[in-house]
Amino acid sequence: MATAFTVNGKQVSVEAETDTPLLWVLRDDLGMTGTKFGCGVAACGACSVHVDGAITRSCSVPLSDVAGKAVTTIEGLKSADGVLHKVQQAWIDAQVPQCGYCQSGQIMAAVALIEKVASPSDAQIDEAMTNICRCGTYPRIRKAILAATGAAIQAGDA
Ligand code: FES
Ligand code: FES
Repeated sequence: MATAFTVNGKQVSVEAETDTPLLWVLRDDLGMTGTKFGCGVAACGACSVHVDGAITRSCSVPLSDVAGKAVTTIEGLKSADGVLHKVQQAWIDAQVPQCGYCQSGQIMAAVALIEKVASPSDAQIDEAMTNICRCGTYPRIRKAILAATGAAIQAGDA
């Protein structure tokens, strides 16, 4: 059965079982491998995408749940003319990634946060950024979020 929805602004129709996790559909059916598999049980956040603007762990969402909805993946953050999203640029400037595996999910969570709260507090960052990073890049993630929102960075932040 075909399920229709949009991904990064383009209409798609996918022939797959309706209980297939969205993550598999993105990676295997649509070839978008920027979104990663980590735990498969909605615990790590590596698979984070936006569904109708809401941060969503795609490993745990069946295809049927996104019918008619708008999905945004890491591949869809940059503008049509190729300019990186300000969060992506802040990530590069702060040299956030180590192994990089968790980072597309981290960026999607950060974008969802600042779309909701333009200047998040430390507490709001803590609450929103629950994705796991095995490399411990958390201080640089915070630094990049603050930079992307134009907040002053404290001397000594790494
Ligand atoms: S792979 Fe989806 S939350 Fe870990
Ligand atoms: S950068 Fe390695 S898991 Fe986060």
